[in-house]
Amino acid sequence: MEKFVIGGGRPLRGEVRISGAKNAAVAILPAVLLSDEPCVIENLPGISDVHTLLRTLESLGAQVRPINKTTVEIDPRHVNSFVVSKQMAEGMRASSYFLGALLGRMNKARVAPPGGCDFGVRPIDQHIKGFEALGAKMSFENGMVSGRAQRLSGCSIYLDVVSVGATINIMLAAVKASGLTVIENAAREPHIVDLANFLNSMGADIMGAGTGVIKIRGVQHLHGTNYSIIPDQIEAGTYMAAAVATGGDVLVTNVTPKHLESIIAKLVEVGADVTEYDESVRVRMDHRPKKCNVKTMPHPGFPTDMQPQIAVLLAVAEGTSIITEGVWDSRFRYVDQLTLMGADIQVDGKMAVITGVKTLHAAPVRAVDLRAGAAMVIAGLVATGTTEIEDIDHIDRGYEDIVEKFSALGAKIKRVPVFDASAALKQA
Ligand code: EPU
Repeated sequence: MEKFVIGGGRPLRGEVRISGAKNAAVAILPAVLLSDEPCVIENLPGISDVHTLLRTLESLGAQVRPINKTTVEIDPRHVNSFVVSKQMAEGMRASSYFLGALLGRMNKARVAPPGGCDFGVRPIDQHIKGFEALGAKMSFENGMVSGRAQRLSGCSIYLDVVSVGATINIMLAAVKASGLTVIENAAREPHIVDLANFLNSMGADIMGAGTGVIKIRGVQHLHGTNYSIIPDQIEAGTYMAAAVATGGDVLVTNVTPKHLESIIAKLVEVGADVTEYDESVRVRMDHRPKKCNVKTMPHPGFPTDMQPQIAVLLAVAEGTSIITEGVWDSRFRYVDQLTLMGADIQVDGKMAVITGVKTLHAAPVRAVDLRAGAAMVIAGLVATGTTEIEDIDHIDRGYEDIVEKFSALGAKIKRVPVFDASAALKQA
């Protein structure tokens, strides 16, 4: 076990290069199962969720050959298993994408229920509804989600809630189904568009990704492809928020500025100076942030995955701000940790009222989930004193080289082993 030790109070300065998007990568890797030939995936982020998915692909019979740090070749031709075990599935949400991908490839799938960050109840009823509409018989047996079909046939599906996961899973199952599938009230996130572009580069026929209506005309075969994953909008937003919170000046490179619009709008509202270039964004801040209100929404609204990071910024802003969480039932579990560092935040259901304080102070805290962990890192960079963050395996699920990237911006941050007294006693 490891923890981060952060010496706070230094403005971030310099340049940071953003990695490939986690939430695109975790959809595209299972999608490789639909190909009849090997695929080369570039700009893969070096994060533990990607490593878990690559191991899962291998456990199904795929051959995985790393080409360099960010590129991997995957040969799915000898995949013979349709079972994803609890051990593989429980650590992450995206393991549910094997349901759609295996149904699409073999007309059968058995996958342990997905894990991932704890935001209260995380149902998959819309995924199941989509698979059933395509003709699969779904069941829950022995703690596994199973699906089987004679063949999958195109259909019309109206999603009751805008769901990234259900939209992706239905696309995966429908891409080789016979006939036309129409997903209405579909999610519009950049990673949905990236998955559609990836599948189309293999010969799929998908239109409308990025809008609320996606049309998928089934094809019989998908061929191999070389595909480069889009940059991670949330990783970019995290470094941008950190630059503003510490009063710094950071050039964030390898980004798609259009994907960052809702985040940039809020950073400008708190007083930051943001300049957009073709593939980079410069963020400067030379005064205390101003208050602002934020409501998270599905894309193109402000992303829920940036909610904890912006909360840190507002925790040290002048005045009182309100955050309304519009996607998840329970995404304020990190507030207790921030309070330990001196933040003044009152949570009432899906709303947090944040009264800005002049500064935060160091404290021992935990990463309660992935983005909450990123928020604690930003809080540590802002705070006076030395902050220690435990449970950082959550952060490693989604941020490549976070210590190296923040260090290159002048931060004092180290990864150190946690002394586990009970393990040491057992060994003695
Ligand atoms: N929902 C249902 N039924 C379903 C599916 C979802 O009611 O069948 C509800 C959820 O309870 C939630 C809302 O719909 O209230 C949206 O959930 P969605 O399905 O869009 O979320 P997800 O696919 O499980 C992905 C990201 C999350 C991100 C959300 C929202 C991945 C692997 N995960 O989750 O990312 O918060 O979309 O944008 O893509 C993260 O990266 O830190 C992260 C948690």
